[in-house]
Amino acid sequence: MSESKRHSMEEGHAEIVTTIAEVRQVTARARERGDRIALVPTMGALHQGHAALIAAAAARADCVIVSIFVNPTQFGPHEDFERYPRQLQTDQDLAKTAGAHWIFAPSVEEMYPHGKETTTVEVPRHETMWEGACRPGHFRGVATVVAKLFLIVQPDIAVFGQKDYQQILVIRQMTADLNFPVEIVMVPTVREPDGLALSSRNVYLSRLEREQALAISRALRQAEAQVGSGERDLALIRQTLQDTLKLECGLQLEYAIVVDADTLVPIDRLDPGGRAVALIAARVGTTRLIDNVLLEAKPG
Ligand code: PAF
Repeated sequence: MSESKRHSMEEGHAEIVTTIAEVRQVTARARERGDRIALVPTMGALHQGHAALIAAAAARADCVIVSIFVNPTQFGPHEDFERYPRQLQTDQDLAKTAGAHWIFAPSVEEMYPHGKETTTVEVPRHETMWEGACRPGHFRGVATVVAKLFLIVQPDIAVFGQKDYQQILVIRQMTADLNFPVEIVMVPTVREPDGLALSSRNVYLSRLEREQALAISRALRQAEAQVGSGERDLALIRQTLQDTLKLECGLQLEYAIVVDADTLVPIDRLDPGGRAVALIAARVGTTRLIDNVLLEAKPG
């Protein structure tokens, strides 16, 4: 490792390393110093939502590693892998400002030297539910790459955004099932002032589509307000959610559901102390967006 890279580890300059061997040197040195290591896995095109993840990692650890890797195994054959925004230089600046010490930005060949002939990780149940059902193989790709990142970086904690709610459940289950000694931290979704959840895919939206997309966060806020004013009938909230979204021309709804926050199984009542989550996936033009809100009832 060069002197400048070594120096940047002490200073937290978000220097980029691209090989597994290099990032292992970084983490070995951090561990020698007794540092607590945090990993923030991303696919790049970083925005303020990612900045919040990095800041949360920096508040909990001494050495923050942000991985930037557009993971081909989690994209379906007709999805936006080729088109997905790639902007490493801008990402580096944002990561540095947010508190990252290192960026791990490997090539596809570095991560998958055997191409499609790779060992995979599959978390049961989720493959056939909601996001899993809409995007066959997606969670296999996510679990596989996150397991690889955990084994490469060996972090003490890993930080993910609430916007990909089901993804967090998949990663939590994988972490428990495979006994990774990694604490999974979930950071609330960051939104634009008008409610739109920040997403790297928002750049695909035209002005009109962006307006239409606001219906998603509006519907979720409505569900939250219903629970806030004492409504506990989740079947009714689910119906309102679906009815509101169906009225929005320009929005192609894939699912709008209210489910148990831990099992993702539909439930019809929110008991005192109970936790549900409203999940939405919809297409606006050719862009697929997801969003969610937690619905929690105070203990009775
Ligand atoms: O949430 C994402 O950006 C990706 O799914 C992740 C966790 C970085 C895995 O590629």
